[in-house]
Amino acid sequence: MRYLLPAALILALGAGFAQSQGGSDKPAPVKARQGIMQNYAFSIGTLGGMAKGEVEYDAQAAQAAADRLVALSSLPQTGYWPEGTSSDDLEGVKALPAIWENMDDFTSGFDTLNEAAMAMADVASDGQQAVAGQMQPLGKSCGACHEDYQMSDD
Ligand code: HEC
Repeated sequence: MRYLLPAALILALGAGFAQSQGGSDKPAPVKARQGIMQNYAFSIGTLGGMAKGEVEYDAQAAQAAADRLVALSSLPQTGYWPEGTSSDDLEGVKALPAIWENMDDFTSGFDTLNEAAMAMADVASDGQQAVAGQMQPLGKSCGACHEDYQMSDD
């Protein structure tokens, strides 16, 4: 089942959410990195739903989602983005070739995400308003990278 995100969040994140269904023949690093992205989406979907009041605020669930984002965005990117795995090379991949021309800038986007996730984790247990207040920088950190480095669907 595809996880449903609030419309505003989808806008904030750019067009990246209608995933390509490339089958199971993708190289392992591609499956691994896309799986992490799916986990990001799962966690930010929880937080975004609470921020908008579409999901009842639950401090424990909010904290878990934020903590998970912190942990996942702390993972070393080494090995996830080997040459030859861009959208030009493989079906079901949306990683633009620009990544390999700007690898440092690209990977710095995960640091930006990590900082926004830590800011969310600091307040996630403090109530719905606190979560809502941190949603924008968090969503922006996803969208900024997607804008430059993820193939859009339109
Ligand atoms: C530093 C760059 C960067 C950041 C930060 C980033 N993404 Fe991505 N995202 C990508 C790239 C590149 C792809 C395409 C990967 C591929 O197809 O191999 C992608 C793909 C995805 C996908 C599709 C995965 C699939 O199964 O095809 C989802 C969902 C996603 N991102 C969600 C998020 C969310 C939510 C966040 C923020 C919490 C986020 N991303 C942060 C670069 C980023």
